[in-house]
Amino acid sequence: MKSNNDDLPAFDTEVISAVRQDEAGTIQGAKLIQAGELVAFPTETVYGLGADGLNGEAVAKIFAAKGRPSDNPLIEHVAKKSDVRRLWSRMPRQARLLMDTFWPGPLTLVAPKSDLVPDEVTAGLSTVAVRMPQNKTARALIAKSGVPIAAPSANRSGRPSPTTAQHVLDDLGGRIPLIIDGGPCKYGVESTVLSLVGEPTILRPGAITREMLAALIGEVRVSESILNPMKAGEVAASPGMKYQHYAPNADVVVVQGSPEQTAKRINALYREAEAEGRSVEIAATEQTKAFYRGKRHLVLGDRNEPETLCASLFSALREMDTRADLILAEGIPAEDEGLAYMNRLLRAAGFHMIDASKES
Ligand code: TXA
Ligand code: MG
Repeated sequence: MKSNNDDLPAFDTEVISAVRQDEAGTIQGAKLIQAGELVAFPTETVYGLGADGLNGEAVAKIFAAKGRPSDNPLIEHVAKKSDVRRLWSRMPRQARLLMDTFWPGPLTLVAPKSDLVPDEVTAGLSTVAVRMPQNKTARALIAKSGVPIAAPSANRSGRPSPTTAQHVLDDLGGRIPLIIDGGPCKYGVESTVLSLVGEPTILRPGAITREMLAALIGEVRVSESILNPMKAGEVAASPGMKYQHYAPNADVVVVQGSPEQTAKRINALYREAEAEGRSVEIAATEQTKAFYRGKRHLVLGDRNEPETLCASLFSALREMDTRADLILAEGIPAEDEGLAYMNRLLRAAGFHMIDASKES
């Protein structure tokens, strides 16, 4: 047993490779889940920190390990579609079609909860969020455990979500008994959260876009809080929206405009900050990297393929955080998967954005 600084039980965190050791991780993981303990596991979006989703005491350990506010509800993860029937008290009209089209995959659906779901999972709400992950190791773990697995992202609360087992170890090493390593996550941002209570509304954007959902079920609203900070006194549709999120220790500033305007403004800000003695790093793209020659920058992906930017955002924030105290990041249009990217980036920046099309 290793010690940590607070009163939590301390663990010698074990990391088992789901690739090299195939089933060893899910077998041991299922035993821990059944015993009411926590297991970090890979999904196609980000790593999750799981507990038996029907056991309130086990679920409470998730909040303690992450330092998560107890009023922020969790997602129940299921191994097969029919499992939702135990968790929801009724099936919303659009649910079947959505599940048949996008499950398994990065879409979470919110519907009225059944009595089986403990209050610890829903933070006392009358609804519960459910998703069926695409990642095979995740589904094997759920199936072997024989219960739905309640899981938030496996980061310390407020930090960028983990997209590798190493990120989980960095945040939760010593606090949990097991991490199942499934390699880097495919999408790199968390699932789309769609509420089916009332008008279908996206509470958190992800790889399943508004356009994809609307093509299937008609009009889909997008919660206003996705690109805007909450106003004082406002009630959050999704409690997760109100917290500082994804934030590295470094300051993050988003610069928005055409690629040329953006690069020009970022270069000016870089020089100013460097003159003040700050260590700066640029979150760049394929289209703009040539503008940053001689300056410290990391290429996240292609501006025209926002999914490539999503896939590397969180690991890039963690990496740049080790070297810089100011991160200058390029904004992109908040359309299609660009909406998920800008939602995460603006939160990491505490909504600090500069419009490069205007004079400074
Ligand atoms: O991709 C994902 O969704 C990952 C992986 C591990 O599956 N999980 C994840 O969980 O991102 P978490 O806890 O970090 O985010 C869950 C989000 C939060 O914003 C929370 O407020 C919202 O879903 N949520 C959960 N239950 C809800 C409910 N009943 N009503 C509204 N929002 C809910
Ligand atoms: Mg999270």
